[in-house]
Amino acid sequence: MYNLVIFASGNGSTLQAIIDNIENGKLSASIQLVVSDNSNAYALERAKKHNIPTYVIKSKTFEERDNELSEVLSNVPINLIVLAGYLKMIGPKLIDKYTLINTHPSLLPKYGGKGMHGLHVHQAVVNSGDPISGVTVHFVNSEYDKGSIIRQVQVPVKTGDTAESLSQRVQIAEKIQLVEVLDDFINGKIS
Ligand code: GAR
Repeated sequence: MYNLVIFASGNGSTLQAIIDNIENGKLSASIQLVVSDNSNAYALERAKKHNIPTYVIKSKTFEERDNELSEVLSNVPINLIVLAGYLKMIGPKLIDKYTLINTHPSLLPKYGGKGMHGLHVHQAVVNSGDPISGVTVHFVNSEYDKGSIIRQVQVPVKTGDTAESLSQRVQIAEKIQLVEVLDDFINGKIS
C-alpha cells in the first residue's frame, strides 16, 4: 500500500479531495495520519469523519516543531508527505528523511513566498491585473515555495474576478492536478 501523510492548517478541502479519490478507488493509497498546527482546523474534523488518525502539533518554534514531527512520524509508515494548505515551514529533519510535496494556488515563482497563501495569493493576482493564474505542485525544500516544480496548470483570470471567485476556480483545477500527480507517485512515474 502507498502510504500518505497529509499536513493541513485550515479548511481541508484539498485533504477531502484526496480522501474522496481514495474512497472512490481512483487513488490506490492510504492516509496514515493528518497533521495540523491548528487545533481548530476543519481538516481535522474531515479526517475524523473518515476514521483517519490526526495529530496536532504542540511546539511553537521552528526547531521544536521539526524535532516533534520527526519523533511522531518515526512510527508511521510513509511514502509521501503532502502539504495541503499547510502554512508552516518544514524543518531539515523532515526534509532530509521524507519526500514532501506542496500544492500552491498560483503559477510559481509568481505569487509565492512567506505570507502568500490562500486568498492572499488570489488577491495579489487580481490586484496585479495578471490575465492568467493557476496551480503549482512542487517538491518541498527549505524555502517557501522554492522547491522544484512537478506540474503546473493555468487558470484564466476573468474580468470582474474577485479573490474569492478566482479561488473557487483555482481550487477546482488544483484538486484535479493534485490527484493526477499523486496517481503518478503511486504508480512510480514520479519519485
Ligand atoms: C489551497 O488552495 C492550497 O493551495 C493553499 O491553501 C488552500 C487550502 O485550502 N495553499 C497555500 O496557499 C500554500 N502556500 P483547503 O484548506 O481547503 O485545502
